[in-house]
Amino acid sequence: MTDWVKSGWRNKPRIQMPEYTDEAALNAVEAQLAKYPPLVFAGETRKLKNALAEVSRGDAFLLQGGDCAESFGQFSADNIRDTFKVMLQMAMVLTYGAKVPVVKVGRMAGQFAKPRSAPTEVKNGVELPSYRGDIINDLDFTPESRIPNPQKMLQAYTQSAATLNLLRAFSTGGYADVHQVHSWTLGFTDRAEIDRYSDLANRISDTLDFMKAAGVDSDRAHTLQTVDFYTSHESLLLEYEEALCRIDSTSGQPVAGSGHMIWIGDRTRQPDGAHVEFASGVQNPIGLKCGPTTTAEDLKVLMNKLNPQNEAGRLTLIARFGAGSVADHLPRLIRTVQEEGANVVWSCDPMHGNTIKSSTGYKTRPFDSVLREVQEFFGIHRAEGTVPGGVHFEMTGQDVTECTGGVRAVTDEDLSDRYHTACDPRLNASQSLELAFLVAEELAGRGKEADAVAS
Ligand code: PEP
Ligand code: CO
Repeated sequence: MTDWVKSGWRNKPRIQMPEYTDEAALNAVEAQLAKYPPLVFAGETRKLKNALAEVSRGDAFLLQGGDCAESFGQFSADNIRDTFKVMLQMAMVLTYGAKVPVVKVGRMAGQFAKPRSAPTEVKNGVELPSYRGDIINDLDFTPESRIPNPQKMLQAYTQSAATLNLLRAFSTGGYADVHQVHSWTLGFTDRAEIDRYSDLANRISDTLDFMKAAGVDSDRAHTLQTVDFYTSHESLLLEYEEALCRIDSTSGQPVAGSGHMIWIGDRTRQPDGAHVEFASGVQNPIGLKCGPTTTAEDLKVLMNKLNPQNEAGRLTLIARFGAGSVADHLPRLIRTVQEEGANVVWSCDPMHGNTIKSSTGYKTRPFDSVLREVQEFFGIHRAEGTVPGGVHFEMTGQDVTECTGGVRAVTDEDLSDRYHTACDPRLNASQSLELAFLVAEELAGRGKEADAVAS
């Protein structure tokens, strides 16, 4: 990639990006961001890449999750803490199921820009440009709010810096202690009164007791007190990404300073487009969403562009086909990867192919469809003999009512109670943890037994 430059995307076709009207204001913001410190450091992105290389070999499991879109209005320490907390709980349950370390990556500290299915939105006969995330314009349905404003990039940067600061403090300051995390989980399994989950939770308790008795305790073992927690977002607003791109002083290579991992969305993965061009030249781990329209040919070209050295941990393919459709698409893409001998992490996003409109008019996702897509993903990897490396969820630590179902069943009628998302519906804390228990069962091999019984 010797001729890559961070502004090279500007010569490529771009979609899903705003047309800023005030060029001088845009240039001033870009110049300012270019002077700010990067949010993450190259060494951290290398560490994540190494961890993802382990995932690609089946020696670790990836948990990626967080808001569909972070927002300025809902920014608070409690919100960040609660999402971090539930991700740690999920990671612990998954570690127990998979018997391998779980790599934790938040959709946090930069997940602000959204691709939209339509450029405009119509309400009561009034048509306005679509909302594109708080880094671009405002959700309010007024003509002024929907004008893209470059100043919002500065606020997104500041919020991301504050979010990362808190995440770093939680990760190393004692909050992430393994006993504390497990005690929260026991609180959940008590309340849910579901024996099925209590059983696994009690087995984790026994393990922790045994470790303590054997002298491996968090008082002594640093690894039981702290965690590595990484950030990620969709690399959509390329003016922002370019302005935060830095040269790693160790390798001399460009790094996206906006987050540890960046991904390319299902709508912006054109092999000759601007988004692929930008991601191809930075050293960070890259995610690539693969939806039903991803062809084997495109995937081949994209793997070559995004990971020409075939480096393990560099590329994560995030499959998002929808429950019932995984078998139509995943096997052919897995075979393409195998034919190319490509090193990839396979992750499953069971959210974006399962969005429906509820009978009460809300955009929602049924818990059962989310679970079913994950099970289909695991089943196909088992059949192909490949590694189901991870899961990718839109979720929050808050007790929202956005997705239906789960043990504390949210119904179509409940959706209006606490529907707070600025974009897609998220799993709430209880649904997220429940899903972790069910995925842990898959990882522990119960899914395998179920396949055997079925066949
Ligand atoms: C997202 O992850 O929020 C998203 C828009 O996903 P996709 O690109 O897979 O539709
Ligand atoms: Co989304």
